[in-house]
Amino acid sequence: MQKEWYEIKGGKRLEGTVTISGAKNAAVAIIPAAILAGEACVLENLPFIQDVQSLKEILEELGVTVDYTDGGCMRINSSTLTTTKALSEAVSSMRASYYLLGALLGLCHEVELALPGGCVIGARPIDQHVKGMRALGAEVELDCDRNIVRARADKLVGAEIFFDVVSVGATINVMLAACMAEGMTVLSNVAKEPHVVDVANFLNMMGASVRGAGTDVIRITGKPRLHGCGYAIIPDQIETGTFMIAAAATAGDVIIKNVIPTHMEAVSAKLMESGARVIEGDDGRDFYLRVIMNERPRPINVKTLPYPGFPTDLQQPMMAYLCAANGLSTINETIFENRFNHVRELRRMGASISLKDASTARVKGINALRGAEIYASDLRAGASLIVAGLAASGTTCVHNIQFIDRGYEYLEKKLTALGAEISRKMK
Ligand code: UD1
Repeated sequence: MQKEWYEIKGGKRLEGTVTISGAKNAAVAIIPAAILAGEACVLENLPFIQDVQSLKEILEELGVTVDYTDGGCMRINSSTLTTTKALSEAVSSMRASYYLLGALLGLCHEVELALPGGCVIGARPIDQHVKGMRALGAEVELDCDRNIVRARADKLVGAEIFFDVVSVGATINVMLAACMAEGMTVLSNVAKEPHVVDVANFLNMMGASVRGAGTDVIRITGKPRLHGCGYAIIPDQIETGTFMIAAAATAGDVIIKNVIPTHMEAVSAKLMESGARVIEGDDGRDFYLRVIMNERPRPINVKTLPYPGFPTDLQQPMMAYLCAANGLSTINETIFENRFNHVRELRRMGASISLKDASTARVKGINALRGAEIYASDLRAGASLIVAGLAASGTTCVHNIQFIDRGYEYLEKKLTALGAEISRKMK
Protein backbone atom coordinates (compact mmCIF):
# COMPACT_ATOMS: atom_id res chain seq x y z
CA MET A 1 0.00 0.00 0.00
CA GLN A 2 1.23 3.51 -0.79
CA LYS A 3 2.24 5.61 2.17
CA GLU A 4 0.78 9.10 2.26
CA TRP A 5 1.68 12.06 4.42
CA TYR A 6 0.96 15.76 4.68
CA GLU A 7 3.67 18.30 4.07
CA ILE A 8 2.86 21.61 5.73
CA LYS A 9 4.81 24.82 5.32
CA GLY A 10 3.72 26.46 8.53
CA GLY A 11 3.38 30.00 9.76
CA LYS A 12 0.68 31.09 7.30
CA ARG A 13 -2.23 33.04 8.75
CA LEU A 14 -5.52 31.25 7.99
CA GLU A 15 -8.03 33.66 6.45
CA GLY A 16 -11.32 33.24 4.65
CA THR A 17 -14.37 31.02 4.86
CA VAL A 18 -14.72 27.29 5.39
CA THR A 19 -17.88 25.18 5.35
CA ILE A 20 -18.26 22.37 7.86
CA SER A 21 -19.26 18.87 6.74
CA GLY A 22 -21.75 16.44 8.24
CA ALA A 23 -20.84 15.04 11.64
CA LYS A 24 -18.70 11.92 11.58
CA ASN A 25 -19.84 10.65 14.95
CA ALA A 26 -23.51 11.09 14.00
CA ALA A 27 -22.98 9.48 10.60
CA VAL A 28 -21.27 6.38 11.96
CA ALA A 29 -24.24 5.77 14.28
CA ILE A 30 -27.03 6.73 11.90
CA ILE A 31 -25.80 4.48 9.06
CA PRO A 32 -26.07 1.29 11.19
CA ALA A 33 -29.28 2.64 12.78
CA ALA A 34 -30.86 2.83 9.32
CA ILE A 35 -30.98 -0.99 9.32
CA LEU A 36 -33.83 -0.77 11.84
CA ALA A 37 -36.18 0.60 9.16
CA GLY A 38 -36.39 -2.73 7.34
CA GLU A 39 -36.84 -0.65 4.18
CA ALA A 40 -35.13 2.25 2.43
CA CYS A 41 -33.73 5.30 4.23
CA VAL A 42 -32.00 8.17 2.48
CA LEU A 43 -29.27 9.95 4.43
CA GLU A 44 -27.96 13.34 3.40
CA ASN A 45 -25.03 15.55 4.42
CA LEU A 46 -22.80 12.55 5.09
CA PRO A 47 -19.12 13.46 5.25
CA PHE A 48 -16.93 11.90 2.57
CA ILE A 49 -14.56 10.14 4.97
CA GLN A 50 -13.06 6.69 5.31
CA ASP A 51 -15.31 5.64 8.22
CA VAL A 52 -18.44 6.22 6.13
CA GLN A 53 -16.95 4.25 3.22
CA SER A 54 -16.03 1.41 5.59
CA LEU A 55 -19.56 1.25 7.02
CA LYS A 56 -21.01 1.11 3.52
CA GLU A 57 -18.85 -1.96 2.84
CA ILE A 58 -19.79 -3.54 6.17
CA LEU A 59 -23.53 -3.12 5.47
CA GLU A 60 -23.06 -4.63 2.01
CA GLU A 61 -21.36 -7.65 3.59
CA LEU A 62 -24.59 -8.11 5.56
CA GLY A 63 -26.63 -8.10 2.34
CA VAL A 64 -28.01 -4.58 2.84
CA THR A 65 -28.41 -2.63 -0.41
CA VAL A 66 -26.42 0.60 -0.28
CA ASP A 67 -26.24 3.27 -2.97
CA TYR A 68 -23.66 5.88 -2.21
CA THR A 69 -22.62 8.56 -4.59
CA ASP A 70 -20.60 11.65 -3.93
CA GLY A 71 -22.61 14.61 -2.76
CA GLY A 72 -22.96 13.02 0.66
CA CYS A 73 -26.15 11.07 -0.02
CA MET A 74 -26.57 7.40 0.87
CA ARG A 75 -29.61 5.17 0.29
CA ILE A 76 -29.71 2.20 2.65
CA ASN A 77 -32.26 -0.58 2.21
CA SER A 78 -32.09 -3.33 4.83
CA SER A 79 -35.00 -5.36 3.38
CA THR A 80 -32.32 -7.35 1.55
CA LEU A 81 -30.39 -8.19 4.76
CA THR A 82 -29.11 -11.78 4.59
CA THR A 83 -27.05 -12.29 7.74
CA THR A 84 -26.68 -11.04 11.30
CA LYS A 85 -23.05 -12.14 11.48
CA ALA A 86 -20.65 -9.23 11.11
CA LEU A 87 -17.25 -10.81 11.56
CA SER A 88 -15.05 -9.38 8.83
CA GLU A 89 -11.77 -7.53 9.25
CA ALA A 90 -13.57 -4.31 8.28
CA VAL A 91 -15.89 -4.72 11.28
CA SER A 92 -13.19 -5.32 13.86
CA SER A 93 -11.00 -2.53 12.53
CA MET A 94 -13.65 0.10 13.09
CA ARG A 95 -14.90 1.00 16.54
CA ALA A 96 -18.25 2.43 15.49
CA SER A 97 -19.25 -0.93 14.00
CA TYR A 98 -20.36 -1.72 17.58
CA TYR A 99 -23.61 0.08 16.71
CA LEU A 100 -24.52 -3.05 14.73
CA LEU A 101 -25.01 -4.72 18.11
CA GLY A 102 -28.02 -2.54 18.97
CA ALA A 103 -29.32 -2.29 15.40
CA LEU A 104 -29.23 -6.01 14.54
CA LEU A 105 -30.40 -7.10 17.99
CA GLY A 106 -33.28 -4.64 17.73
CA LEU A 107 -34.39 -5.72 14.26
CA CYS A 108 -33.46 -9.42 14.14
CA HIS A 109 -33.07 -10.34 17.83
CA GLU A 110 -29.67 -11.87 17.12
CA VAL A 111 -26.21 -10.69 16.21
CA GLU A 112 -22.65 -11.94 16.11
CA LEU A 113 -20.11 -9.18 15.92
CA ALA A 114 -16.33 -8.88 15.75
CA LEU A 115 -15.29 -6.58 18.56
CA PRO A 116 -14.16 -3.10 17.69
CA GLY A 117 -10.72 -1.71 17.22
CA GLY A 118 -10.66 1.95 16.19
CA CYS A 119 -8.59 4.60 17.87
CA VAL A 120 -5.92 3.42 20.27
CA ILE A 121 -6.98 5.45 23.28
CA GLY A 122 -7.39 3.84 26.65
CA ALA A 123 -9.01 0.48 27.21
CA ARG A 124 -12.39 1.57 25.81
CA PRO A 125 -14.49 -1.27 27.27
CA ILE A 126 -18.06 -2.04 26.13
CA ASP A 127 -19.40 -3.28 29.45
CA GLN A 128 -22.12 -0.60 29.55
CA HIS A 129 -23.37 -1.62 26.09
CA VAL A 130 -23.54 -5.22 27.28
CA LYS A 131 -25.24 -4.27 30.54
CA GLY A 132 -27.94 -2.41 28.58
CA MET A 133 -28.60 -5.25 26.12
CA ARG A 134 -28.86 -7.75 29.00
CA ALA A 135 -31.31 -5.49 30.83
CA LEU A 136 -33.50 -5.56 27.69
CA GLY A 137 -33.58 -9.35 27.96
CA ALA A 138 -30.80 -10.38 25.59
CA GLU A 139 -28.33 -13.16 26.34
CA VAL A 140 -24.93 -11.68 25.62
CA GLU A 141 -21.80 -13.79 25.39
CA LEU A 142 -18.33 -12.36 25.03
CA ASP A 143 -15.92 -14.72 23.29
CA CYS A 144 -12.67 -13.15 24.40
CA ASP A 145 -10.48 -15.70 22.58
CA ARG A 146 -11.95 -14.86 19.19
CA ASN A 147 -12.80 -11.26 20.10
CA ILE A 148 -16.45 -11.68 19.26
CA VAL A 149 -19.68 -10.67 20.99
CA ARG A 150 -22.86 -12.72 20.45
CA ALA A 151 -26.30 -11.58 21.53
CA ARG A 152 -29.75 -13.05 21.07
CA ALA A 153 -33.20 -12.67 22.55
CA ASP A 154 -36.57 -14.35 22.09
CA LYS A 155 -37.98 -10.91 22.66
CA LEU A 156 -36.68 -7.60 23.93
CA VAL A 157 -38.56 -5.98 26.79
CA GLY A 158 -38.24 -2.37 27.93
CA ALA A 159 -36.28 -1.82 31.15
CA GLU A 160 -34.90 0.86 33.45
CA ILE A 161 -31.16 1.18 32.97
CA PHE A 162 -28.82 3.45 34.92
CA PHE A 163 -25.43 3.68 33.22
CA ASP A 164 -22.41 3.50 35.54
CA VAL A 165 -20.44 5.88 33.32
CA VAL A 166 -21.62 8.46 30.83
CA SER A 167 -20.97 6.77 27.51
CA VAL A 168 -21.90 8.08 24.07
CA GLY A 169 -21.58 4.64 22.49
CA ALA A 170 -23.58 2.78 25.15
CA THR A 171 -26.33 5.44 25.18
CA ILE A 172 -26.80 5.23 21.42
CA ASN A 173 -26.42 1.45 21.17
CA VAL A 174 -29.01 0.68 23.84
CA MET A 175 -31.31 3.34 22.38
CA LEU A 176 -31.20 1.50 19.03
CA ALA A 177 -32.17 -1.85 20.53
CA ALA A 178 -34.81 -0.33 22.83
CA CYS A 179 -36.67 1.27 19.90
CA MET A 180 -38.01 -2.16 18.98
CA ALA A 181 -38.38 -3.61 22.50
CA GLU A 182 -41.81 -4.21 24.01
CA GLY A 183 -42.89 -1.39 26.33
CA MET A 184 -40.93 1.49 27.79
CA THR A 185 -37.18 1.78 28.39
CA VAL A 186 -35.83 4.49 30.66
CA LEU A 187 -32.12 5.25 30.24
CA SER A 188 -30.53 7.35 33.00
CA ASN A 189 -27.10 8.97 33.28
CA VAL A 190 -26.92 9.08 29.48
CA ALA A 191 -24.60 11.04 27.21
CA LYS A 192 -25.97 14.37 25.93
CA GLU A 193 -23.62 14.92 22.99
CA PRO A 194 -25.13 16.58 19.89
CA HIS A 195 -24.90 13.35 17.93
CA VAL A 196 -26.89 11.47 20.58
CA VAL A 197 -29.70 13.95 19.89
CA ASP A 198 -29.19 13.59 16.13
CA VAL A 199 -29.52 9.80 16.31
CA ALA A 200 -32.68 10.17 18.45
CA ASN A 201 -34.16 12.57 15.89
CA PHE A 202 -33.37 10.13 13.11
CA LEU A 203 -34.98 7.24 15.03
CA ASN A 204 -38.10 9.35 15.55
CA MET A 205 -38.22 10.08 11.81
CA MET A 206 -38.28 6.29 11.33
CA GLY A 207 -41.33 6.10 13.57
CA ALA A 208 -39.62 5.41 16.90
CA SER A 209 -40.63 7.18 20.09
CA VAL A 210 -37.49 8.55 21.78
CA ARG A 211 -38.00 11.41 24.23
CA GLY A 212 -35.50 13.38 26.29
CA ALA A 213 -32.34 13.03 24.18
CA GLY A 214 -30.03 15.88 25.17
CA THR A 215 -31.03 15.55 28.85
CA ASP A 216 -29.86 13.06 31.48
CA VAL A 217 -32.83 10.73 30.98
CA ILE A 218 -34.07 9.22 27.72
CA ARG A 219 -37.45 7.46 27.54
CA ILE A 220 -38.13 5.13 24.66
CA THR A 221 -41.46 3.51 23.88
CA GLY A 222 -40.77 0.45 21.77
CA LYS A 223 -42.52 -0.05 18.43
CA PRO A 224 -43.04 -3.39 16.65
CA ARG A 225 -41.72 -1.92 13.43
CA LEU A 226 -40.15 1.26 12.09
CA HIS A 227 -40.21 2.64 8.56
CA GLY A 228 -37.93 4.31 6.04
CA CYS A 229 -37.32 8.07 5.96
CA GLY A 230 -35.04 10.80 4.68
CA TYR A 231 -32.68 12.51 7.10
CA ALA A 232 -29.88 15.10 6.95
CA ILE A 233 -26.98 14.75 9.42
CA ILE A 234 -25.99 17.70 11.65
CA PRO A 235 -22.74 19.63 11.10
CA ASP A 236 -19.63 18.21 12.73
CA GLN A 237 -18.91 19.71 16.15
CA ILE A 238 -15.35 18.37 16.22
CA GLU A 239 -14.44 19.51 12.70
CA THR A 240 -15.81 22.94 13.62
CA GLY A 241 -13.68 23.02 16.76
CA THR A 242 -10.61 21.90 14.83
CA PHE A 243 -10.98 24.82 12.40
CA MET A 244 -11.67 27.25 15.24
CA ILE A 245 -8.49 26.18 17.00
CA ALA A 246 -6.47 26.19 13.77
CA ALA A 247 -7.67 29.75 13.08
CA ALA A 248 -6.55 30.89 16.53
CA ALA A 249 -3.27 28.96 16.36
CA THR A 250 -2.25 30.73 13.15
CA ALA A 251 -3.34 34.15 14.42
CA GLY A 252 -5.97 33.99 11.70
CA ASP A 253 -9.39 35.34 10.84
CA VAL A 254 -11.73 32.58 9.69
CA ILE A 255 -15.48 32.39 9.15
CA ILE A 256 -16.70 28.86 9.80
CA LYS A 257 -20.05 28.21 8.14
CA ASN A 258 -22.71 25.55 8.58
CA VAL A 259 -22.22 25.24 12.31
CA ILE A 260 -24.49 25.02 15.34
CA PRO A 261 -22.98 27.65 17.66
CA THR A 262 -24.56 26.21 20.84
CA HIS A 263 -22.64 22.96 20.24
CA MET A 264 -19.43 24.98 20.38
CA GLU A 265 -19.91 26.94 23.60
CA ALA A 266 -17.23 25.15 25.63
CA VAL A 267 -14.69 25.62 22.83
CA SER A 268 -15.64 29.25 22.14
CA ALA A 269 -15.35 30.06 25.85
CA LYS A 270 -11.84 28.61 26.08
CA LEU A 271 -10.64 30.31 22.90
CA MET A 272 -11.97 33.65 24.15
CA GLU A 273 -10.27 33.11 27.50
CA SER A 274 -7.03 32.65 25.55
CA GLY A 275 -7.49 36.00 23.82
CA ALA A 276 -9.32 35.10 20.59
CA ARG A 277 -12.49 36.83 19.45
CA VAL A 278 -15.32 34.44 18.63
CA ILE A 279 -18.31 36.03 16.92
CA GLU A 280 -21.57 34.19 16.26
CA GLY A 281 -23.57 35.15 13.22
CA ASP A 282 -26.32 34.19 10.81
CA ASP A 283 -25.91 35.05 7.13
CA GLY A 284 -29.55 34.25 6.38
CA ARG A 285 -28.67 30.79 5.11
CA ASP A 286 -26.24 29.37 7.65
CA PHE A 287 -25.15 30.03 11.18
CA TYR A 288 -21.47 30.80 11.33
CA LEU A 289 -18.69 31.41 13.82
CA ARG A 290 -15.89 33.85 13.09
CA VAL A 291 -12.65 33.35 14.98
CA ILE A 292 -10.14 36.19 15.01
CA MET A 293 -6.81 36.12 16.79
CA ASN A 294 -4.32 38.97 16.80
CA GLU A 295 -2.02 38.15 19.67
CA ARG A 296 -0.05 35.37 21.26
CA PRO A 297 -2.48 33.10 23.16
CA ARG A 298 -2.81 33.55 26.89
CA PRO A 299 -2.34 30.32 28.85
CA ILE A 300 -5.54 28.57 29.97
CA ASN A 301 -6.58 25.44 31.82
CA VAL A 302 -8.70 22.88 30.00
CA LYS A 303 -10.55 19.92 31.48
CA THR A 304 -12.34 17.48 29.21
CA LEU A 305 -15.86 16.48 30.25
CA PRO A 306 -18.95 14.89 28.72
CA TYR A 307 -21.08 17.38 26.74
CA PRO A 308 -21.69 20.26 27.33
CA GLY A 309 -18.16 20.25 28.77
CA PHE A 310 -15.01 20.61 26.71
CA PRO A 311 -14.90 17.65 24.26
CA THR A 312 -12.11 15.12 24.67
CA ASP A 313 -11.83 14.99 20.86
CA LEU A 314 -10.57 18.58 20.86
CA GLN A 315 -8.14 18.16 23.75
CA GLN A 316 -5.30 17.25 21.41
CA PRO A 317 -5.75 20.13 18.93
CA MET A 318 -6.14 22.49 21.91
CA MET A 319 -2.84 21.30 23.34
CA ALA A 320 -1.08 22.01 20.04
CA TYR A 321 -2.50 25.55 20.15
CA LEU A 322 -1.36 26.14 23.73
CA CYS A 323 2.21 25.08 22.97
CA ALA A 324 2.90 28.66 21.87
CA ALA A 325 0.91 30.40 24.63
CA ASN A 326 2.39 33.08 26.77
CA GLY A 327 2.78 30.99 29.96
CA LEU A 328 1.80 27.71 31.59
CA SER A 329 -1.41 25.89 30.64
CA THR A 330 -2.78 22.75 32.26
CA ILE A 331 -4.78 20.12 30.40
CA ASN A 332 -6.73 17.55 32.34
CA GLU A 333 -8.12 14.61 30.33
CA THR A 334 -10.92 12.95 32.30
CA ILE A 335 -12.67 10.86 29.64
CA PHE A 336 -9.97 8.53 28.30
CA GLU A 337 -6.72 7.24 29.73
CA ASN A 338 -3.71 7.31 27.43
CA ARG A 339 -5.01 10.16 25.33
CA PHE A 340 -1.64 11.91 25.30
CA ASN A 341 -0.03 10.08 22.38
CA HIS A 342 0.44 13.39 20.59
CA VAL A 343 2.67 14.77 23.35
CA ARG A 344 5.78 12.97 22.14
CA GLU A 345 5.25 14.31 18.62
CA LEU A 346 4.65 17.89 19.80
CA ARG A 347 7.87 17.64 21.79
CA ARG A 348 9.71 16.82 18.55
CA MET A 349 8.56 20.25 17.39
CA GLY A 350 10.10 21.89 20.44
CA ALA A 351 7.03 21.91 22.70
CA SER A 352 7.66 21.96 26.42
CA ILE A 353 5.09 19.57 27.88
CA SER A 354 5.40 17.62 31.09
CA LEU A 355 3.00 14.89 32.16
CA LYS A 356 2.12 15.30 35.81
CA ASP A 357 0.29 11.97 35.70
CA ALA A 358 -1.54 9.89 33.09
CA SER A 359 -4.34 12.44 32.84
CA THR A 360 -2.69 15.83 33.39
CA ALA A 361 -0.34 17.66 31.04
CA ARG A 362 1.43 20.91 31.78
CA VAL A 363 2.22 22.94 28.68
CA LYS A 364 4.83 25.64 29.08
CA GLY A 365 4.39 28.00 26.15
CA ILE A 366 7.36 28.60 23.86
CA ASN A 367 7.70 31.32 21.22
CA ALA A 368 6.83 29.03 18.33
CA LEU A 369 6.84 25.37 17.38
CA ARG A 370 9.28 24.38 14.65
CA GLY A 371 8.67 22.00 11.77
CA ALA A 372 9.52 18.31 12.23
CA GLU A 373 8.74 14.77 11.04
CA ILE A 374 5.81 13.67 13.20
CA TYR A 375 3.50 10.65 13.36
CA ALA A 376 -0.23 10.53 14.08
CA SER A 377 -1.28 7.72 16.42
CA ASP A 378 -5.03 8.20 16.07
CA LEU A 379 -7.58 10.48 14.44
CA ARG A 380 -7.63 13.43 16.84
CA ALA A 381 -3.92 13.18 17.61
CA GLY A 382 -3.58 13.61 13.84
CA ALA A 383 -5.72 16.75 13.94
CA SER A 384 -3.52 18.07 16.72
CA LEU A 385 -0.39 17.57 14.63
CA ILE A 386 -2.01 19.37 11.69
CA VAL A 387 -2.76 22.37 13.93
CA ALA A 388 0.82 22.25 15.21
CA GLY A 389 2.22 22.09 11.68
CA LEU A 390 0.09 25.03 10.51
CA ALA A 391 1.27 27.17 13.43
CA ALA A 392 4.94 26.10 13.34
CA SER A 393 7.81 27.77 11.56
CA GLY A 394 9.35 25.70 8.76
CA THR A 395 8.17 22.45 7.21
CA THR A 396 6.29 19.73 9.06
CA CYS A 397 5.61 16.27 7.66
CA VAL A 398 2.65 14.56 9.32
CA HIS A 399 2.77 10.79 8.78
CA ASN A 400 0.09 8.11 9.32
CA ILE A 401 -2.59 10.32 7.79
CA GLN A 402 -4.84 7.33 7.22
CA PHE A 403 -6.08 8.11 10.74
CA ILE A 404 -6.96 11.66 9.73
CA ASP A 405 -8.74 10.42 6.59
CA ARG A 406 -11.07 8.44 8.87
CA GLY A 407 -12.70 11.61 10.10
CA TYR A 408 -11.93 14.82 8.17
CA GLU A 409 -13.49 15.50 4.78
CA TYR A 410 -11.28 17.23 2.18
CA LEU A 411 -9.01 18.55 4.93
CA GLU A 412 -6.16 19.76 2.75
CA LYS A 413 -8.55 21.32 0.25
CA LYS A 414 -10.35 23.26 2.97
CA LEU A 415 -7.10 24.40 4.59
CA THR A 416 -5.56 25.39 1.25
CA ALA A 417 -8.60 27.56 0.53
CA LEU A 418 -7.86 29.36 3.81
CA GLY A 419 -4.31 30.10 2.73
CA ALA A 420 -2.48 27.19 4.32
CA GLU A 421 0.37 25.53 2.45
CA ILE A 422 -0.46 21.88 2.89
CA SER A 423 -0.13 19.09 0.37
CA ARG A 424 -0.65 15.35 0.35
CA LYS A 425 2.45 13.45 -0.64
CA MET A 426 2.84 9.80 -1.41
CA LYS A 427 5.45 7.22 -2.22
C1 UD1 B 1 -17.48 8.53 21.42
C2 UD1 B 1 -16.96 9.21 20.19
C3 UD1 B 1 -15.53 9.66 20.42
C4 UD1 B 1 -15.43 10.51 21.68
C5 UD1 B 1 -16.10 9.82 22.86
C6 UD1 B 1 -16.22 10.71 24.09
C7 UD1 B 1 -18.16 8.16 18.42
C8 UD1 B 1 -18.10 7.25 17.26
N1 UD1 B 1 -17.02 8.29 19.09
O1 UD1 B 1 -16.67 7.37 21.64
O2 UD1 B 1 -15.12 10.42 19.29
O3 UD1 B 1 -14.08 10.71 21.99
O4 UD1 B 1 -17.43 9.41 22.53
O5 UD1 B 1 -16.94 11.87 23.77
O6 UD1 B 1 -19.15 8.78 18.71
N2 UD1 B 1 -16.79 3.38 28.88
C9 UD1 B 1 -16.89 2.33 29.75
N3 UD1 B 1 -17.71 1.29 29.40
C10 UD1 B 1 -18.44 1.28 28.25
C11 UD1 B 1 -18.33 2.38 27.38
C12 UD1 B 1 -17.49 3.43 27.72
O7 UD1 B 1 -16.27 2.31 30.80
O8 UD1 B 1 -19.17 0.31 28.01
C13 UD1 B 1 -15.91 4.52 29.23
C14 UD1 B 1 -14.78 4.73 28.22
O9 UD1 B 1 -13.67 3.92 28.51
C15 UD1 B 1 -14.49 6.20 28.41
C16 UD1 B 1 -15.87 6.79 28.73
O10 UD1 B 1 -16.68 5.72 29.14
O11 UD1 B 1 -13.66 6.38 29.53
C17 UD1 B 1 -16.53 7.49 27.56
O12 UD1 B 1 -16.55 6.62 26.44
P1 UD1 B 1 -17.69 6.69 25.34
O13 UD1 B 1 -18.51 7.93 25.56
O14 UD1 B 1 -18.40 5.40 25.29
O15 UD1 B 1 -16.86 6.85 24.02
P2 UD1 B 1 -17.17 6.23 22.62
O16 UD1 B 1 -18.64 6.08 22.45
O17 UD1 B 1 -16.30 5.06 22.39
